[in-house]
Amino acid sequence: MTDQTSPVTPPETFYDAVGGHATFERLVDVFYEGVATDEVLRPMYPEEDLGPAKVRLTLFLEQYWGGPTTYSQQRGHPRLRMRHAPFKVNPDARDRWLAHMRAAVDALDLAPIHESQLWDYLERAAYSMINTFDE
Ligand code: HEM
Repeated sequence: MTDQTSPVTPPETFYDAVGGHATFERLVDVFYEGVATDEVLRPMYPEEDLGPAKVRLTLFLEQYWGGPTTYSQQRGHPRLRMRHAPFKVNPDARDRWLAHMRAAVDALDLAPIHESQLWDYLERAAYSMINTFDE
C-alpha cells in the first residue's frame, strides 16, 4: 500500500496560485510605501512604526485568499467595518487607499485573471469600508 489515500487532487488555492507568502508580503510592502507618503492616510495610523499594521494586513489577505489562518488565530473574527469605525474613511481616503493598492497590485505582475480577481475584491472591499461622507 502506498500512502496515496485519495486519487483526487485538491484544487489549488488563489494564495498558492499567485506565489504564496512572498507575493502577499510584496503587495503589502509596496502598498505601505505609498501610505507612508500619503498626507491623509499616514496620520490615521496610530503607531510610529507601520510594521505591525503591515503584518495585520498581510495576514488578513493571506487568510482571505486561502492561505494560513494565522490572522484569525491572532485577531479573532476580522469585523473589518467595525475595526475601521475609529477612522474617517470617506471617498477621498478610499481613493487614496485604492491608488496605493493599484500601484502594489501592478508591481506583482500577476497573470491577468489573477490580477482582475484580486483587484475586483480590493475595490469592492474599499467601497464597503466607507463610513462617512464628511470632508
Ligand atoms: C478604504 C480605505 C481604508 C482606510 C483609510 C483604512 C485604514 C486603516 C487604518 C488606519 C487601520 C489601522 C491600522 C492598524 O493598526 O492595523 C486599518 C486596519 C486594517 N485594515 Fe484598513 N483601511 C481601508 C480599507 C481597508 C480594506 C479595503 C481592507 C481589506 C481588504 C482593510 C484591511 C485592514 C485590516 C485587516 C486591518 C487590521 C485590522 C486588525 O486590527 O486586525 N482596510 N485600516
